[in-house]
Amino acid sequence: MTTVALLNQKGGVGKTTVTLGLASAAQAAGERVLVVDLDPQASATWTLGIVPDNATLGVADAIAAGTKGAAAAAIVESAWSPLVWVLPSSSGLADREHDSGRLLEKRLAKALEGVTDSYDLVLIDCPPSLGGNARGALTAADLALIVVEPASYSLRGVAAVLDLIDDVWDRSNPDLDLAGVIVNKMPAVSSEADRRTDELVEMVGRKAVWKPAIPNRVIVNQAHGEQRPIHSYGYRAREVVDALDALYVKLRRAAK
Ligand SMILES: Nc1ncnc2c1ncn2[C@@H]1O[C@H](COP(=O)(O)OP(=O)(O)OP(=O)(O)O)[C@@H](O)[C@H]1O
Ligand SMILES: [Mg+2]
Repeated sequence: MTTVALLNQKGGVGKTTVTLGLASAAQAAGERVLVVDLDPQASATWTLGIVPDNATLGVADAIAAGTKGAAAAAIVESAWSPLVWVLPSSSGLADREHDSGRLLEKRLAKALEGVTDSYDLVLIDCPPSLGGNARGALTAADLALIVVEPASYSLRGVAAVLDLIDDVWDRSNPDLDLAGVIVNKMPAVSSEADRRTDELVEMVGRKAVWKPAIPNRVIVNQAHGEQRPIHSYGYRAREVVDALDALYVKLRRAAK
């Protein structure tokens, strides 16, 4: 079992898309995956077909409890398949966003302790910020994956994410590794995007920039809207699915 935090403080770059795309790839490969939705916007929770009501427990409850294995009570099966499970987002998460105390940092890790053992892969979808929730995710994770778009505004934030990873590694999680950077929304032909990818390689090194990039395709939007795994769209999603499958294989290798 490996726990992966997907993050970037930039909004809209595709953290949720890549989280769900990798969950879809894992499911297609017959593996059991848990998606932890740490974003108060609850996009991943919604796309996985979970409609929280007043009685639904969520990740904020697990963090609030902060006891060993507390997350188990809140985890539900997704609407996708019995292979994909969700620790849903919940109101209360936003309040934690700016907390960065050492104890709070460790609460998610504690709540997931023992619980994650029954999954092949745990994917934590982070909110677009580097606050307490992102810290909590990195403290609970074995690997960090940064998601970027090949655009200058997206790359400008990468250094801050790397700093946060270093800081968490130093303070609370010596087992944390940067798995790599996934480039999402790659246009078919764009010298600008190619230049930005080169710039990224200069920043983090060639090995850290994962290939292939995920192409920019409208089917991705459609899959979110229809709350379906991208793998269920057949040939129409082929390029996106091929990229996700290759990235998934790479992630499984990095996990060993
Ligand atoms: N490869 C892609 N091709 C086309 N559209 C995409 C792609 N990846 C993401 N999108 C679209 O871009 C938008 C933002 O994606 P997503 O919600 O995954 O980003 P995010 O980083 O999780 O955003 P937030 O920071 O708000 O959590 C969504 O409408 C999504 O459908
Ligand atoms: Mg998101």
